[in-house]
Amino acid sequence: LERGLQPRSADDTMVDLAGNDYLGLSREPAVVEAATAALVRYGLGATGSRLVRGSTVEHATLERELADLMGRRAALVYSSGYLANLGVVRALARPGSVFVLDAHAHASLVDGCRSSGARTVPVAHNDVDALAAVLADLPSGLAVVVTESVFSVDGDAAPLARLHQVCRDHKALLLVDDAHALGVVGPFGGGAVAAAGLAEADDVIVTATLSKSLGCAGGMVAGSDVFIRHLVQTSRTFIYDTALPPAVMCGAQAALMLMKNDTWRRDLVRQRAAALAEALQAAGLGVTSPAAGIVSVFAPSAIAALEWSRACQRAGIAVGCFRPPTTPDHRSRLRLTINAAIPAADFERAVKVIIGTAPSPDE
Ligand SMILES: Cc1ncc(COP(=O)(O)O)c(C=O)c1O
Repeated sequence: LERGLQPRSADDTMVDLAGNDYLGLSREPAVVEAATAALVRYGLGATGSRLVRGSTVEHATLERELADLMGRRAALVYSSGYLANLGVVRALARPGSVFVLDAHAHASLVDGCRSSGARTVPVAHNDVDALAAVLADLPSGLAVVVTESVFSVDGDAAPLARLHQVCRDHKALLLVDDAHALGVVGPFGGGAVAAAGLAEADDVIVTATLSKSLGCAGGMVAGSDVFIRHLVQTSRTFIYDTALPPAVMCGAQAALMLMKNDTWRRDLVRQRAAALAEALQAAGLGVTSPAAGIVSVFAPSAIAALEWSRACQRAGIAVGCFRPPTTPDHRSRLRLTINAAIPAADFERAVKVIIGTAPSPDE
């Protein structure tokens, strides 16, 4: 179970079914050119935290564009999605707050709840009835329900509209991490919260990352003006952190434009995810049901998963190998992520390799 790093070079030729560059924007010439031009104008580093010298017009422009895309009044960029979740969860904690956390929620949400010092109650994954029962036992107006929209390990979707209804009934806030839906789901790729018709709900707060569909780096939160102002005043992971380089903000602006306009990219991600899940299932493998660009396929053991991922790697296919404690249910699996920029022939070969190297169920 020991983890190891596998540094890749710039000319790496692996077919990438392990990264989160769903729309294939990280290497898109328009994105790279926008970042390069900003690098020349601004230099490399932001030189300071956002409240000191780090805020540039590029940060402000991207924040406006992100808020517009997600149908929110305002947005704030953090250095990473991890720090955004940590900072936002902590900022939502008030005296007496209780976080109600989906059992499959990402480590950054778990860490935010833990470090807030507030009471945290786990709730069974995507179980709306269990959530209603938990909320019924809590004082009204003090709960914050914390979940992802598309779950990072299994790629399944949260029932956001139903979760929101239950939250409304109990005057709870709903915090949704839209990291794996942004760009792939929703109008113009605006995410699963917007797709669920909750873009204007004032009791829903959305976080996401710029490091997946946008192919860049950084995290974000979108919400009301008041909440964003509250974060600027109080959120330690925003305040005490050097701003992201302006070149990253410019690259993200270019990526955002392509994300909105190139509908074919998200269509292809969803088509490929469905085709992959179907092919794996037809080969007798246990797979999750993809809501966006993630398909997980179960392995009989941690060792089998590791061997399987190595066999794929030897054949030139990069896949994610997820073993406990990273998996929510102690089962090991390969996590396969779709990239719209991979040529069709490479994608088809990758599917054949994954099936051809699969372990037998009793391995
Ligand atoms: C659901 C989810 N939230 C947050 C993050 C953290 O985002 P970042 O990599 O930008 O720190 C990740 C993964 O990286 C994720 O999968």
